[in-house]
Amino acid sequence: MQRKKIAVIGGGQIGGIIALMSTQRELGDVTLVDLPEFLNPVRGKTLDIDQLRPHINADVTLRATSDYAEISDADVVVVTAGIPRRPNMSREDLLLINIEIVQGVARQIKAHCPGAFVIVATNPVDTMAYVFHKVSGLPKNRVVGLSGALDTGRFQSFIAAETGLSVKDVSCMVIGGHGPTMVPLVSTASVAGIAITDLLSDAQIDAIVQRTKEAGTEIVNLLGNGSAYFSSAGSIMEMIEAYLGDKKRVISCSALCEGEYGVTGYFLGVPVVIGANGMERVLQASLDESEREALAETARAVIVSAHNSGI
Ligand code: LAC
Repeated sequence: MQRKKIAVIGGGQIGGIIALMSTQRELGDVTLVDLPEFLNPVRGKTLDIDQLRPHINADVTLRATSDYAEISDADVVVVTAGIPRRPNMSREDLLLINIEIVQGVARQIKAHCPGAFVIVATNPVDTMAYVFHKVSGLPKNRVVGLSGALDTGRFQSFIAAETGLSVKDVSCMVIGGHGPTMVPLVSTASVAGIAITDLLSDAQIDAIVQRTKEAGTEIVNLLGNGSAYFSSAGSIMEMIEAYLGDKKRVISCSALCEGEYGVTGYFLGVPVVIGANGMERVLQASLDESEREALAETARAVIVSAHNSGI
């Protein structure tokens, strides 16, 4: 059987961890793509993981390259290229720098692997996914942004910690833009089907919601020189595995809305089904009134950012 091919554009922390996790799970061959001037450390990373393989019995190959022709057979492409934020920067502050980078990547993907499923992780992610989709011309089912998968994982972790219950039993979702206006959905959050409102006080829930919204910034401030990478890579892995395994997982992703949630023509974090056809459909969840208002606000923020891209 032909092994699956996973390409990551950008050989930084997220790229390295995706290469590691894909190898540990024998998910497929991994190619990290970076600019020639950054390639040596990326080569070092792939060689290191290559030489880890005997210790974990993993038969996959790892490569580092600057040549997009080498990823022409990629099944999945993860776009992490661009700069991460530093303390006192918002994701939006990255827009003008990262837009140039993402446009260049989109042209390369269009030329070399237009059939791949593309996961955009570069921030501000809703706008970068929007730009990637416009510039690459890939169909909407082949382009999603990393947003809600990561934010939902944070919401799950905080609910598990506050209730003292297993993270495995927490079911919840964060939708909206990947920024301070994101919307952790409280009305449907549960632990093994028991509403969190039955398990936690309003004050505890408010604190969890607030911490979820600021979780990326909390990590940026602590790291001092970059943004979260373990949880980002882990949530991207869920999306990759859902696609390669045709799992029909319901994952919150930044996806092109065409009328869903009142948004047309923009990428916004919404619950989507990921399977062999990529982003197969958007699921419409019923929201309570405060969630509907919060979603309208986050949609406005995402649309303003997309307009600021000038694309
Ligand atoms: C975060 C960055 C990656 O939320 O957007 O951690």
